[in-house]
Amino acid sequence: MNFLTEELEELHRKDLHRRMRRLDSPQGARTVIEGKECILLSSNNYLGLTEHPVVKEAAKLAVDNWGAGAGGSRLTTGNYALHEELEQEISHFKGTESAIVFGTGYAANLGVIQALAGRGDAVLSDELNHASIIDGCRLSQAGVKVYRHRDTEHLEEMLRQVQGYRRRLIVTDGVFSMDGDLAPLPKIAALAERYGAFVMVDDAHATGVLGGRGAGTVDHFSLEGRVQVQMGTLSKALGSSGAYVAGTHELIDYLRNMGRSFIFSTAPPPAAMGAALAAVRLVERQPEIRTRLWRNARYLRTSLDKMGYIVPAEDSPIIPVFIGDAAKTMYLSQALLEEGVFAPGIRPPTVPQGTSRIRVTVMAVHTREDLDQALSAFARAGKRAGIFS
Ligand SMILES: Cc1ncc(COP(=O)(O)O)c(C=O)c1O
Repeated sequence: MNFLTEELEELHRKDLHRRMRRLDSPQGARTVIEGKECILLSSNNYLGLTEHPVVKEAAKLAVDNWGAGAGGSRLTTGNYALHEELEQEISHFKGTESAIVFGTGYAANLGVIQALAGRGDAVLSDELNHASIIDGCRLSQAGVKVYRHRDTEHLEEMLRQVQGYRRRLIVTDGVFSMDGDLAPLPKIAALAERYGAFVMVDDAHATGVLGGRGAGTVDHFSLEGRVQVQMGTLSKALGSSGAYVAGTHELIDYLRNMGRSFIFSTAPPPAAMGAALAAVRLVERQPEIRTRLWRNARYLRTSLDKMGYIVPAEDSPIIPVFIGDAAKTMYLSQALLEEGVFAPGIRPPTVPQGTSRIRVTVMAVHTREDLDQALSAFARAGKRAGIFS
């Protein structure tokens, strides 16, 4: 297998080889990364629930009551009362008739898109959608039309072109994972109604974060009943693992029967389901956790902006700090790490050329002291990287 050596060398040559950083502690506002304590500014654990005592206790209880694994797929021997209880809670939280859980968000996007679109159908997808959506589109064998990021005029143009197709599915991230900006969902829903399409939103980064009830982008934009497929993860703000799809009874029944990544995969483990159930209930009952997240996000964003960094004005806990040049971005990320802040640099091919950035995310559990310390580190590291004098 000589090609392995050659292709790995090629990655190194192009400075695109990736390696994993090891965490030596649980994931909180301060986390030990490869032996060094850092302020963590890169987690999707937005509400800090991976470390919440109620969530951890629920995971332990689920193991005691149900065991370590599910032992089969949901349609064979792996459908526990706990899975059904979680699905009921999610549909209550989302305000939909029903819900279904998947092992991961990646699997959910593959399974749902493949089930809902096939040969003769069209999928219209935002160019910055998550890789799992892109892969779901590929697997579906539908005609895929990629529209410019958040450009609803371009989307409309494409909707006109696909009027002859059997079905039309518009799919978009709710909050885009690398930019933190929101999909123009009200306009997308209106276009879908006008052109006879249906809409799927991926609320991986919106669940537990956006909306008056924390239920995601549909809640945020008050679009109840106008977005047919709401997917989200249990692995980010909810602090567990897995994913859900919420919608009508019919949609969920269809996915149970046609979603290949649901059918042909072992049911998610009890610990993850128990933790997610406790997390959804916390989001529903303790909005103050979300309030802390938003307070922190606004403080960090405005402070970085005042310091001279380029940050978009978008209101979101994902704060891309744009540097542009890939090498400079990686230098800044390393300088931040030396200053005790973990915030990874993101460069092509993950993001378009010339838009390399530090992807900063904030958590509800950061204290003002954590954030001020991180800001001082940004000031010093920025000077070292030659971003400002
Ligand atoms: C927008 C989006 N969708 C889907 C996923 C996949 O979810 P999971 O990590 O649960 O597989 C992610 C992140 O990983 C994501 O950012």
